[in-house]
Parts: sequence; structure tokens; C-alpha cells
Amino acid sequence: MTPSLTIAIDGPAASGKGTIARQVALRYGLRHLDTGLLYRAVASLCAEEGIALEDAVAAGERATRLVPSDLEREGLRSAAAGRGASVVAAHPSVRAALLRWQRDFAEKAPGAVLDGRDIGTVVLPDARAKLFITADPDVRAARRWRELSETRNIAYRDVLRDIEERDARDAARSNAPMRQADDADLLDTTDMTITDAVAEAARLIDGRLNR
Ligand code: C5P
Repeated sequence: MTPSLTIAIDGPAASGKGTIARQVALRYGLRHLDTGLLYRAVASLCAEEGIALEDAVAAGERATRLVPSDLEREGLRSAAAGRGASVVAAHPSVRAALLRWQRDFAEKAPGAVLDGRDIGTVVLPDARAKLFITADPDVRAARRWRELSETRNIAYRDVLRDIEERDARDAARSNAPMRQADDADLLDTTDMTITDAVAEAARLIDGRLNR
């Protein structure tokens, strides 16, 4: 059997990693998993079922029962779901439950592109190519603000604060913190259009796959 081709794309909120991961998956004919959705779904299910986000045991148990249709729940892309996700994501019990889910997804032929925070370091340490995508916080906040303000009234400073708080929580947690893997290529998209960023990501990944 041909081993699956796996590509890991990590980075902070609104760095462009989601768009890049989707385009990379198309380019190489792979499936794509936005792993942030798993944490967002666990937070949303906990909130609906009266489970405190801080309750590591109950949230971890709930994460073991996640099913694919949970990723289609309404409101998962909201700022509140993102905040909730970063709270449950700090529990080792939740991370352990979701680790199996992510690896099962990645191992199915022909392989997959996963984007998240700990894909290159923890979930797929043997991925054939790894990217860590970043951009200055104010540029990321402006991108997210433009996206969110299409559907509602939201202040830029609230979006920036939200991104900074989430970055700090994701980088500081002791279990699987957000960090660039030693063998990942760094891509800073601060001064790039999304088209340029996708092209540069493809160039870096081609370089890794052709080694
Ligand atoms: O990428 P997204 O903004 O949807 O992620 C939501 C939250 O889920 C992140 O802030 C992070 O706390 C958590 N997450 C994680 N590990 C991943 C993906 C997301 O801890 N692989």
C-alpha cells in the first residue's frame, strides 16, 4: 500500500493558514481538515449541554463522542466559539481524544492536509512537509475584522484583543502549545496577498516533497 501523503500547516488565528491549507489540498489532490473546528465543536457542544468549559474531565469525555456531523454545527466560526475552543484545547483529556480523530483522518488514502496549532509537532510529526504560517497581530486582526464585519457590527480593537488573548493562551499551555516544529518552513504573510502566500506555500512544499 502507498503510504498517505500528509502535510502539516500550523499558525496563529487569521494567519491565512486555512485558505492556504485548502488550496494546498486542491493542488496535491488531498483531503483537508481544519482541526480548529474540532475544538470549536467540543466547546459548542459543552456550552449547549451545560458542561463547564473549565471541567477537563467532562469536556474530555464529551470530546470522545464527537462525530463528523458535529463539525457542521451552526456558529462554529464565531469569535465566541473560537474563545471557547482555546479554553477546552488546554485540557490534555480533550487533546488526547481529538488526537486519534485527526490521525485517523490523515491516514486514509490518498492523505491529507491538516491545519491547526500542533499538527507538525504532535499530531503528524512525520508529515512530509510542514509549514508554520504567521503574520503580525495587527495585520491578522484587520483581516479577521474585515471578514467578521461583513455580517455584523464589530470593533477592530475587540478583534485584536481576542486574537492576542487566544495567541497567548495557545502558546502558553503546557500540553501541545502552538509552536513551529524544528523541521517546518516559516512563512510570514504580513506583507503578502493571499494569492502570493498560496504561491509561496506551494513553492516551499514542492521543495520539501522533491527532496
Ligand atoms: O484555528 P481556529 O481559530 O479555528 O482554532 C480555534 C482554537 O482551537 C485555537 O485558538 C486553539 O486554542 C485550538 N486549536 C488547538 N490545536 C489545533 C487547532 C486549534 O489547540 N490543532
